[in-house]
Amino acid sequence: MSTIALANAVHVLAAVVWVGGMFFAYVVLRPSLGAFEPPDRLRLWGRVFSRFFPWVWVAVFALPASGYWQVMVVFGGFANIGLHVHLMNGLGLVMIALYVYLYGAPFSRFQKAVEAADWPAAGGQLNVIRRIVATNLALGLITAAIGASGRYWI
Ligand code: HEM
Repeated sequence: MSTIALANAVHVLAAVVWVGGMFFAYVVLRPSLGAFEPPDRLRLWGRVFSRFFPWVWVAVFALPASGYWQVMVVFGGFANIGLHVHLMNGLGLVMIALYVYLYGAPFSRFQKAVEAADWPAAGGQLNVIRRIVATNLALGLITAAIGASGRYWI
């Protein structure tokens, strides 16, 4: 496998893991947990996030690293890339900023509230996390579509 193919594969796999994980959490897991009592539901979300977020950190580093590598080596710099890559770059950086905020602020508060069994506070922070994940899921789907097909229509 050439280095270009490797960078491309790492890039797409990182996008699949991050965006696919958000899709599962938001579209499948969230509506499935409505019947559970808040302590069980919130503790479960704490465990789910603790296992998913390390993978998101991997994606958050792998996406720009493999993306900028392709910009430099495949395209020969930012002057030569198409609008679809500029859009992907901009949307990707917004997604990363939202995730870093999510991890540092609401998720950190959510974990402390769950540890203290403060369920109203944990529920409030989960609501903030839900809105950020919904935004990042929408951005991620749009970005993946632009990244994969943009060269044909943008
Ligand atoms: C963070 C900055 C990013 C940079 C600099 C970047 C850069 C690139 C480049 C240069 C390509 C190759 C484009 C081409 O061959 O026409 C690419 C492809 C792609 N990117 Fe990104 N990207 C970034 C973020 C993202 C994000 C956040 C996602 C998804 C959530 C994403 C998903 C994709 C996909 C699906 C492809 C298509 C791969 C293929 O069909 O070969 N990228 N990216």
